[in-house]
Amino acid sequence: MTKVRGTFWGVGVGPGAPDLLTLRAARAIASADLLIYIQNPRGFSLGRHIAREALALPERNPNQAELPIVLNMSKDRTLINEQYDQAADTISQHLSQNLTAVFLCEGDPLFFGSFIYLQNRLQKKHRCRVVPGITSINAASAETGIPLTLIDESLAVLSSRSSDNEIEQALQQFHSLALLKAGPHLPRLLELLEKKGRLADGVYLERIGHDDQHIEYDLTKLQGHIGPYFSLLLVTRQERPLR
Ligand SMILES: C[S@@+](CC[C@H](N)C(=O)[O-])C[C@H]1O[C@@H](n2cnc3c(N)ncnc32)[C@H](O)[C@@H]1O
Repeated sequence: MTKVRGTFWGVGVGPGAPDLLTLRAARAIASADLLIYIQNPRGFSLGRHIAREALALPERNPNQAELPIVLNMSKDRTLINEQYDQAADTISQHLSQNLTAVFLCEGDPLFFGSFIYLQNRLQKKHRCRVVPGITSINAASAETGIPLTLIDESLAVLSSRSSDNEIEQALQQFHSLALLKAGPHLPRLLELLEKKGRLADGVYLERIGHDDQHIEYDLTKLQGHIGPYFSLLLVTRQERPLR
């Protein structure tokens, strides 16, 4: 199929700090004809909030239009798919006017990003491109100074919605483990780490790069704590091949 004109960019804005995005991302955001972002039903867009400094650049396209996409997050995949279908149709109509559209993505667009579902729907008809962003895992490593991997170490990335068995296996098979979406699952995750004797190997990070960022190195202090969705657990080993 011949692709119609218009380019759909997934632009990574990083984990939260407004200055932790690339120069390429800032330029793409400032120059876009159309700025697209997910907004919650209360009118807040995390992606747009993180991109606020890029949007304040003097070289921002004065004719830039904005297209908020309101998504009702749900575990019901049918409902989510319908919303992505609708959003993709609307974006496609705009792209057909030969626009450069930038979709703001928290972190990196292709790392658990909602951009993936839009790209999947649009790429047959439109050119899709990506500006990578700093992931939450890289930010967690930087904030704590904990290396993710070195020499022949391996790193597993799991959603905390994984089963106990999957998490236990990953703890055993990989040197390091990043557990995303950790906050709501904390009591179960802490229990698993304790059972495996790995409680002392973990660090918990909430809302990295935001004003209310919280880092906890002593996981025993988190007993009974339920954290926000934007949080993760990084588990490494005490003995590492540093020398
Ligand atoms: C749908 S995934 C998006 C990942 C994102 N695209 C990235 O590159 O990091 C959402 C999960 O990423 C992690 N995350 C994203 N931003 C974060 C932040 N600022 N602080 C802590 N965790 C974060 C959390 O585990 C959250 O549940």
